[in-house]
Amino acid sequence: MSITRVRGRATLATLIIAAAFGAQPPLAQTSRSPVAPRRQQVEAVVREAYDLFKSDTGGKNADYLPYLAQVNPKLFGVAIVTTDNQVFTLGDVDYSFSIQSISKVFTLALAMEELGPKKVFERIGSEPTGRAFNSVPAVVDMPSHTGNPLVNAGAIATTSLISGTDANEKWNKILNFYSAAAGEKLSLIGDVYKSEAATNAGNKALAMLLAKYDRIYNDPFESVDIYTKQCSVGVNATQLARMGATLANNGINPATAKQVIKREDIPYILATMTMAGLYDSSGYWAWHVGLPAKSGVGGGIVAIVPGKGAIAVFAPPLDEAGNSVKAQKVIEYVANKLDFNLYSPASVGLK
Ligand code: DON
Repeated sequence: MSITRVRGRATLATLIIAAAFGAQPPLAQTSRSPVAPRRQQVEAVVREAYDLFKSDTGGKNADYLPYLAQVNPKLFGVAIVTTDNQVFTLGDVDYSFSIQSISKVFTLALAMEELGPKKVFERIGSEPTGRAFNSVPAVVDMPSHTGNPLVNAGAIATTSLISGTDANEKWNKILNFYSAAAGEKLSLIGDVYKSEAATNAGNKALAMLLAKYDRIYNDPFESVDIYTKQCSVGVNATQLARMGATLANNGINPATAKQVIKREDIPYILATMTMAGLYDSSGYWAWHVGLPAKSGVGGGIVAIVPGKGAIAVFAPPLDEAGNSVKAQKVIEYVANKLDFNLYSPASVGLK
């Protein structure tokens, strides 16, 4: 396993956070949290999880998008980035895969940046749909029609909220925002975009249906095209973990120290992820893992440990709900072993 400490900022907050992941001095031994996992412990648990699930053959690649069907199903990478920018990586963490639905979280953050959480909540809503992520009946049946920002309909409507003089300006704004969260310049995977743009009639239908209910806020097809591009952005597991760590770190990217997302928006984003981040498995996830997370059909999942860091796992085969099988298993294992579950007494020192 590779561990790097890229840069640490010596604020009180980051020192406390560093302690939570077992970082070494300058923090005095006595100020270390009694429930904090040590660096070696994180390393050992990630290795255990990796070895335990490496040969798991459950699930299958998404095949409704032709590009995703041909990605090597054996690819498997795990990355943790802490809020003091320690990086733990194992496996295929440099492979660039399409971010897919995980993008929805960051477009939501950008929409809040522009409009504030109240207007975003009014225009999109935040209720679970209880249906598949691309459900048409959910748009008809839900009182809000959009559902929430993490299902396709609500996400396309959220993308339609982003301002700009033309489609290109909006798209570049989105890409730059994601790059700021990753701390590196991200780019479109052209083949994913082409493959998806040629097969996204379902998303166009969702956008037109939203137009019928006045729940899309710009040209429906332009919004679908920008949404398709945002789903086709390439990230590797380490970049994805850093995007997650930015959420865990009150919106400040731990590598660049830039405030990318407004601090006051973070609770709404994490609440939305908890409620709908894994679609129809969000209830199981809250029960067994207890961390805000988001999946994408590209095979990535990122889970946020507020104040501490984020874990991102990439492994293409998915379950019925569209969530990576191995990624769920690894994150559940690591979260339980390291007491990351936000609802567990142990995680707050009440063991
Ligand atoms: O719009 C779609 O269907 C894909 N671009 C994204 C779906 C997705 O990632 C659902 N996630 N688990």
